[in-house]
Amino acid sequence: MSNLFEVKHPLIDCHLTKLRDAETGSDEFRQLVRRLATLVAYEATKDLKIDPQTVVTPLTEMVGSRLGERVGLVPILRAGLGMIDPILDLIPTAEVWHLGLYRDEATAQPVEYYSKLPPGNPVDTALIVDPMLATGGSAMAALETLKKWGVKRTKIASLLASREGIDALQKEFPETQIYVCRVDPILNDKKYIVPGLGDAGDRIFNTLKS
Ligand code: PRP
Ligand code: URA
Repeated sequence: MSNLFEVKHPLIDCHLTKLRDAETGSDEFRQLVRRLATLVAYEATKDLKIDPQTVVTPLTEMVGSRLGERVGLVPILRAGLGMIDPILDLIPTAEVWHLGLYRDEATAQPVEYYSKLPPGNPVDTALIVDPMLATGGSAMAALETLKKWGVKRTKIASLLASREGIDALQKEFPETQIYVCRVDPILNDKKYIVPGLGDAGDRIFNTLKS
């Protein structure tokens, strides 16, 4: 069974089209990232464990639900930061563990520059958050780090992936569920997703010109 979930929704199609548009400026780009993050996270969290929780309404007592596991959100810096606030709004009790990774421009290999995961006491489910999954190298480096931390269940929430990156990830980490808005067909010779949307981090943080 494949653990790839390409989330189908008309709103995703519309927001993603605007996100891809080279004319979309950073302000609107950030808003679109937030909307798409909410939609993809809704799907990615459908099987979180819940426990019974008694609540007293203005009329009576009833048994409802509360989250029954520790959830860790793992944004990959920088671009993953653009998705984190809307997901935290959905899961206010989540813990946020930042991982700093950038792709070396010449080799497209991930370089880790920040990780503050604590020794021991891993979360139950970790959701890696990064809008782009190109070669899959950054996501796989993050998964290695989470594996060393001892996380049992890992998921990825991303906006755009490449076929090649998905294949590489599924080969190395078949247990990890991958939730994406769209899988694009190819990577170019600089390992950018095509048709893609360009450099997500630069578009979110308005650093395209520097
Ligand atoms: C981008 C993106 C992913 C990575 C994907 O980050 O946000 O982390 O590239 O590429 P991969 O699947 O081939 O590893 P980038 O390295 O540009 O850093 P940034 O977020 O700081 O801009
Ligand atoms: N990182 C991006 O931001 N965009 C790509 O297309 C590939 C990696």
